[in-house]
Amino acid sequence: MTVKQVLYDLQQVHRWYESSVEVVKAVDGVDLQIFKGDFIAVFGPSGSGKTTFLNLLAGLDKATGGSIVFNDVNLNDLSDSAICDLRRHEIGIIFQFYNMHPSLTTQENVEYPMLIAGIPASQRSQRATELLKEIGLLDKKDNFPAELSGGEKQRVGIARALTNEPQVIIADEPTGDLDSENAEEIINLLLSVNKQGTTIVMVTHDESLLTEDMRILHLIDGKIFG
Ligand SMILES: Nc1ncnc2c1ncn2[C@@H]1O[C@H](COP(=O)(O)OP(=O)(O)O)[C@@H](O)[C@H]1O
Ligand SMILES: [Mg+2]
Repeated sequence: MTVKQVLYDLQQVHRWYESSVEVVKAVDGVDLQIFKGDFIAVFGPSGSGKTTFLNLLAGLDKATGGSIVFNDVNLNDLSDSAICDLRRHEIGIIFQFYNMHPSLTTQENVEYPMLIAGIPASQRSQRATELLKEIGLLDKKDNFPAELSGGEKQRVGIARALTNEPQVIIADEPTGDLDSENAEEIINLLLSVNKQGTTIVMVTHDESLLTEDMRILHLIDGKIFG
């Protein structure tokens, strides 16, 4: 029997937003282990805390209570630059609205995170070509985002998140802007990425996207239910 390895260990994680008028308990006491190779689908209605939760996992935001341990490192103990490094090398992020640079071509968009990570040009170009083949968009490598469909843009988003071979992909409603046919394509691409070993944590409010390959968690009022 193979023993599952823990990628994320969350204990009593809270993210409360406090203002002079109110306290919003966006994430409210989450205990959870995410294992290497998991495809987690966090399912919950709008406003249930999904984006806040993912931002904590991605190191884009800090918990106001509890601990998030990633690969035996407590994110609370890391400096901002160490967190940046982690995001650059270990964590790939996919957003609902693609976040492509409008003035860069498909190929340049895929190469961009590698440019930031200081990878030499020839290696960048080789890796981008490899990824564009994998997502089936090599023929659009010189096109600009405005010339791509939503589904194509999101495929580029996936390629870009994969450039530095992250251990985990964090995806915030990656199909939220797509019709059902394109949404299914994106989910299939994510499933195939997961089969190759990358852990995926995706949030969605669309029940039709859930499949039995996923470990489905419900998020309601900032609390996780299995
Ligand atoms: N920066 C913020 N300041 C105050 N409240 C926030 C902030 N971001 C999110 N919230 C609140 O936290 C709750 C969860 O939001 P969010 O994580 O965006 O939910 P979801 O992604 O599930 O729609 C909501 O009530 C939202 O209004
Ligand atoms: Mg959200």
